[in-house]
Amino acid sequence: MDLMQYQAKEPFTQKHLLTLQDWSEDEIYQCLSLALKLKSMQKSGEKQTCLSGKTLAMIFAKSSTRTRVSFEVGTYQLGGSALFLSTSDIQLGRGEPISDTAQVLSRMVDGIMIRTFKQSDLEALAKHGSIPIINGLTDEFHPCQVLADLLTIYEKKGTLKGLKLAFVGDGNNMANSLMIGCSKLGIDVSIASPDGYKPSPIYTAWSVANAEAHGSKVTICSDPLEACKDADVLYTDVWASMGQESEAAERKKAFEGYQINAQTLAVAKKDCIFLHCLPAHRGEEVSADVIDGKHSVVFDEAENRLHAQKAVMALLMGGGNA
Ligand code: CP
Ligand code: NVA
Repeated sequence: MDLMQYQAKEPFTQKHLLTLQDWSEDEIYQCLSLALKLKSMQKSGEKQTCLSGKTLAMIFAKSSTRTRVSFEVGTYQLGGSALFLSTSDIQLGRGEPISDTAQVLSRMVDGIMIRTFKQSDLEALAKHGSIPIINGLTDEFHPCQVLADLLTIYEKKGTLKGLKLAFVGDGNNMANSLMIGCSKLGIDVSIASPDGYKPSPIYTAWSVANAEAHGSKVTICSDPLEACKDADVLYTDVWASMGQESEAAERKKAFEGYQINAQTLAVAKKDCIFLHCLPAHRGEEVSADVIDGKHSVVFDEAENRLHAQKAVMALLMGGGNA
């Protein structure tokens, strides 16, 4: 399939991006197709104006490099403006209710991107506000990252359906979102995590059902080599996510051996690619020779945050135009 030429099967009707589970396969393809177009326009200096006169509020309760920069720069490139709101500065951080924040921001801006802890806070913003809400990472999900990952896989492999992605490590927000996103597009997903750190049974069940509907499979196991066997894409993420800093020492022990390295690479396909959402800890979840080696495409992946996030905003806030 040539994603640049993708023809939508249905009109895009999503109001928010809370989790990719809410988006159909067709909607995900529409987003990836628009991301490719916006990327090509940006590279050739073509002006994009779909957010002209519009403002995105970006609420951050956790640190960020890629998410903040991609949304902020992306908004400007689409002709709009972005507002950085740290929860240590705004009244939300001092206990102002989410419902009030949602209603106030809905009167002044055209969309909210939020990075926070609880998924239920995003649901509350969506319920009480009247503007698009975009998940910039919660403890449960990181859908924006997965859209950039799918874009990168498509660019490198020329296809998505029928591939195999292996994830080694914590059954965290990245594992949940990758398994949901990939299973919706017919990509096999195999996750290796130690006991006690496997992805949530609920999101696993969603993904298994998605995979059944799209002719692929989702496997959860404990052995990194089993997961990585014949994989087209190897993926890992930090052992301790933001908010889990106090568990770092305990997690370091639990995740020993759950590393993407020369051994896991050796059992994957010869032309496999390595992805990591970043930031990475060399020597923990990935060896330096892999992340800095020839299979790694982590910086193309990081760049694609910009193009994918522009597509999300163009669809949710800009009428699906460039
Ligand atoms: N991958 C990612 O979301 O990076 P940041 O935490 O830097 O935004
Ligand atoms: N799982 C990581 C992803 C960072 C982009 C975290 O939540 O900190």
